[in-house]
Amino acid sequence: MPTVLILGASSDMAVAIARKFAAAGYDLQLAARNPAKLAALQSDLSIRYPVKSTLHEFDAEQPLTHAAFFSSLPVKPDISICVFGYLGDQQQAQSDWKEAGRIIMVNYTGAVSILNSIAEYYVSQGKGTIVGISSVAGERGRMSNYFYGSAKAGFTAYLSGLRNRLYHHGVHVLTVQPGFVYTRMTEGMPLPKPLTATPELVAAAVYNATLRKKNTIFVKGMWRWIMLIIRNIPEFQFKKMKL
Ligand SMILES: NC(=O)c1ccc[n+]([C@@H]2O[C@H](COP(=O)([O-])OP(=O)(O)OC[C@H]3O[C@@H](n4cnc5c(N)ncnc54)[C@H](OP(=O)(O)O)[C@@H]3O)[C@@H](O)[C@H]2O)c1
Repeated sequence: MPTVLILGASSDMAVAIARKFAAAGYDLQLAARNPAKLAALQSDLSIRYPVKSTLHEFDAEQPLTHAAFFSSLPVKPDISICVFGYLGDQQQAQSDWKEAGRIIMVNYTGAVSILNSIAEYYVSQGKGTIVGISSVAGERGRMSNYFYGSAKAGFTAYLSGLRNRLYHHGVHVLTVQPGFVYTRMTEGMPLPKPLTATPELVAAAVYNATLRKKNTIFVKGMWRWIMLIIRNIPEFQFKKMKL
């Protein structure tokens, strides 16, 4: 059975991704900082699908533990999906390094450190797939969320470079730009319905793009054009806007 590792498996998006891959017959390795939270998901998956799932402790904010975490996996995954993320509080991050540092650590440093270990293993095998959930927030820094946005921008650039390097080793890297998604992260935010995806839609897009070896996807296609416009607003105008 092929195996998928899901990092940040307690997130709403990750749960939908886990269900999608389980329905397709993949065994699952579900990793989160509090694996006890995943017990209900694990038992639900075992009732619905004839696949095996295991739970693993993983903290994105402890990058020095990541190499050991990956080596300790008894079965190495065929596909690794990095889902975890932290929106954080922009206002607080402006004056509190603890918050700013956490946003950068979870969305960039922690993601890079675990994917480095996975990438080296996949290179040694000459195969494997890495999926990174990034964000359109990384396409251009805005006043309302530039700590999160800049960390995701770094992550998107990292994935692009990784894809370029690993292509020559038979390893595939997919970057996912979900746009707005109805999850715990966006709870209570007034999201525009036509631009907002469900976790299930993200899961189906991730699954299909992984199988088709796509490079980058926008879950809702409209976001590609929105970001094209946003990226092309001249800086002298952009800096005056309140975005
Ligand atoms: N929702 C959106 O509109 C949207 C849009 C674009 C991109 N994204 C990205 O999509 C991904 C999934 O987000 P979501 O919307 O599903 O949000 P979510 O439900 O809030 O999930 C965030 C996940 O990250 C995990 N996490 C946070 N800090 C961690 C750490 N130090 N170590 C390990 N895991 C940690 C959380 O674990 P705990 O359960 O332990 O807190 C949770 O599982 C994120 O990368 C996010 O940036 C979301």
